[in-house]
Amino acid sequence: MVPETRTATLPSAAEIGEILHRLFIVRAGTTLRKEDVQKTHEVAGMLRELSRVRRDAALVDAAAGKASVGLVAAEVLPIGSLVVIERAPDRVAACRDAATRLSRAVPVEVRQGDVADHLAWPDRPDAVVALHACGGASDRVIDQAVRVGTRWLFLSPCCHGASVPFHARALAIAGGLGCPDVATLRWRLATALIETERTLRLEAAGFETEVHEFVGATVTPHNLLLRARRTMQEKRMRDAAEKLARLHGR
Ligand SMILES: C[S@@+](CC[C@H](N)C(=O)[O-])C[C@H]1O[C@@H](n2cnc3c(N)ncnc32)[C@H](O)[C@@H]1O
Repeated sequence: MVPETRTATLPSAAEIGEILHRLFIVRAGTTLRKEDVQKTHEVAGMLRELSRVRRDAALVDAAAGKASVGLVAAEVLPIGSLVVIERAPDRVAACRDAATRLSRAVPVEVRQGDVADHLAWPDRPDAVVALHACGGASDRVIDQAVRVGTRWLFLSPCCHGASVPFHARALAIAGGLGCPDVATLRWRLATALIETERTLRLEAAGFETEVHEFVGATVTPHNLLLRARRTMQEKRMRDAAEKLARLHGR
């Protein structure tokens, strides 16, 4: 997959920490909490991904939390606009507040809503990023990314519980393969099957999709990234659709 745009230098995790501190913490003499320091490494990994998108790109940060990724991207990458989608009112408020402290003049729209809601999404964004979209929210983000025709999707899924539509089937496949009824083993196999299903779903919808670890597992165990680029290659889509049907037992 060929990068579209590369910025000359991306900020280090320490520099991202300074930006997060300025945007979210504000008070002098205070420092980032341990989980915020962890977030700086995750954001650094996501910025490396987002540096692929074109200059002036319209970016969506979905299941955004306080939109650490989207806002830091708006601060340091040459994106053109940012739409944030988040359902929790306190995080929406924190994001709106932080957006006022950006030093770049980038239009930022913070939409309080569910990622499943069509109205929350802009049409045809250049890129959608979703860092640690919980459970089934990752599946909703995939559905919406396909529907709105984004050029890029950078998705790092999080937990893989019962809200994931493929969860029950993944556990059934794991059981059918003879995976011992040991929670850790079944969970790992089911998780891999869930990410396989998501990857095939994106491929069948025309997204060339690569899967890799965007940050070390010591930073977060949820370090998988689905990097999907809309190319609409018909043969690739057909092949993926066949594999997807087999995975679903159709
Ligand atoms: C694990 S947090 C990750 C937040 C942020 N992306 C980050 O990595 O810092 C997941 C966020 O997604 C939000 N969320 C979960 N399901 C959602 C949904 N269906 N629609 C909108 N937001 C959702 C939660 O409120 C939470 O803020």
